[in-house]
Amino acid sequence: EADIEKKLPLYGKSILITAGPTYEAIDPVRFIGNHSSGKMGFDIANRAAELGAKVYLVSGPTHCKPLYSSISVFPVVSAKEMYAKCHELYDQVDVAIAAAAVADYRPKMVAEQKIKKAAENFVIELEKTQDILASLGTSKQHQFLIGFALETENEIENAKIKIQKKNLDLIVLNSLKDEGAGFGKSTNKITFIDKNFTVEPMDLKSKTAVAIDIIDKVCEHFK
Ligand code: CTP
Ligand code: CA
Repeated sequence: EADIEKKLPLYGKSILITAGPTYEAIDPVRFIGNHSSGKMGFDIANRAAELGAKVYLVSGPTHCKPLYSSISVFPVVSAKEMYAKCHELYDQVDVAIAAAAVADYRPKMVAEQKIKKAAENFVIELEKTQDILASLGTSKQHQFLIGFALETENEIENAKIKIQKKNLDLIVLNSLKDEGAGFGKSTNKITFIDKNFTVEPMDLKSKTAVAIDIIDKVCEHFK
């Protein structure tokens, strides 16, 4: 390894990042999913790698590709698979960042065969998935734990509740109010809130620039 790499701020640190949507199967050909592109998580992974970190990127279905060989991608499909892979990796990392848009509910029963159309109305019963981030909060030891919050009302208050409920060190509140922010867009309007409830609103900027801000917070933690 080049000596220059050892001078990078995150050299020797390892970071677990979740990214993308999860797909929850209904039958062999159908699923419940969401519009997450995975871009936010991959941008964070790329920035962490640029600053010298070893990155474990657990990602739901996405077209994104990592830019560096120090990023190991673990592709998963469902919330259950993402949960298992995250817990397998968690003990060995210094930081975990949950950027995935994990499904909150999945079909209670998965049909073994393709469901045929018949009745006029069709109801799918759903059950809660595991909250991956909350479970990482519960089993937290030395890790610096960062979560996201997507809110459309009482944003700050709801984000603070998430910090406490999930035992987070920092939350990245995503505002959907702002035009140009959110799913499918290349820009985000975020507010950082730390575990002491210090609120720091940021300007509307590209997801790549938001990723830089998030990894700056990680660097500050290790200073
Ligand atoms: N998250 C997770 N596992 C889940 C649901 C959410 O790890 N099953 C993580 C997301 O990756 C994100 C954070 O929890 O970092 C907050 O997600 P969000 O959807 O805003 O909050 P929820 O806790 O799911 O609550 P709600 O959707 O009701 O606001
Ligand atoms: Ca949710």
